Amino acid sequence: MKAIILCAGEGTRLRPLTYTGAKHLIPVANRPIITYSIEMIKEAGITDLGIIVSPHRREEFRQALSDGSELGVKIEYIPQEKPQGLAHAIACAQDFVKQDPFIVCLGDNLLENGIANLVQEFSQSKANGMILLTEVEDPRAFGVARLEKGVIKQVIEKPKDPPSNLAIIGIYLFDKHIFEAIKEIKPSWRGELEVTDAIQKLIDKGYRVLPHVVQKGWWKDVGKPEDILHANRLILERIESEKILGKIDAQTQIKGRVIVSEGAEIIHSELRGPLVIGPGCVIENSFIGPFTAIGPNVSIKESEIEYSIVMEGSSIVGAGRIDHSLIGRNVQIGKKDRLPEAYNMILGDNSQIKLI
Ligand code: G1P
Repeated sequence: MKAIILCAGEGTRLRPLTYTGAKHLIPVANRPIITYSIEMIKEAGITDLGIIVSPHRREEFRQALSDGSELGVKIEYIPQEKPQGLAHAIACAQDFVKQDPFIVCLGDNLLENGIANLVQEFSQSKANGMILLTEVEDPRAFGVARLEKGVIKQVIEKPKDPPSNLAIIGIYLFDKHIFEAIKEIKPSWRGELEVTDAIQKLIDKGYRVLPHVVQKGWWKDVGKPEDILHANRLILERIESEKILGKIDAQTQIKGRVIVSEGAEIIHSELRGPLVIGPGCVIENSFIGPFTAIGPNVSIKESEIEYSIVMEGSSIVGAGRIDHSLIGRNVQIGKKDRLPEAYNMILGDNSQIKLI
């Protein structure tokens, strides 16, 4: 069995971060989002991975993940020349998967519990496809499935009037027949070849597609800034105990599950977990946490930061209280040393800043 992870989306709702980096490489709890999918796939015993990327991001993925050996997998990068939909992305991987059954994961979906049982269930079932479903309150933003006596009768993409509250989670298992179905579908109203339409085509052609309703654990589709912060919270909750590898002075107070990485220095501050502080950070006279991830080589002085992500190389000095914020790499937030009493800002396109 092989696996493909679809990462060619541009992540427009995460601009400006996605102007300078791929959405799937945004750090959540200090690790790129995609590494959680890679680990989930590896835990299911699959190590042959194809990552579908848009050509201009290929090098960035390669730099971040290399050939996968550090994560214990073998990664091949497969370009999707144009963003023509998830089914088109799957078709790009046909030469990679060949005749093997395979699992498809959307690179921006996170699932609390693994997929190990599923892979087994699918292999034993001899079905042609399996889709993961979960009950959601408002399924209109997702693909939705209608079941009858435990069998999928219909799948529809983003229905205005959903036939059930079972949303399609971005994890699918297929055999080679999906490629045949993809060839027969037409672009949807949003101009894309939808994986949901390909699944419907499989069903219409008489192939067997099984539902698997996920009843336990969370599922997170990270498309917007608040989703990233929520995912950060969910992943940080996994920290089991305090782990202090950096230097902490006697005036610092640590409460709860806090990770301070090697080479970090904490001076006269309060750290409240769950929280991770990356290597080489300097935190001084500040309060950090809970549900916060501070990336490598960040410097924070005279500030309070809660429920936020601060990425590599940023510096925050005298900023008062920062909450629910997503701060990119090498951002500088500081105080002026002269009048006039006015904000000075250099913000990239699509930046968001809320003042009190
Ligand atoms: C895609 C799929 C949809 C699925 C969702 C899960 O939607 O088309 O069926 O429910 O992922 O995240 P998209 O994120 O492309 O809008």
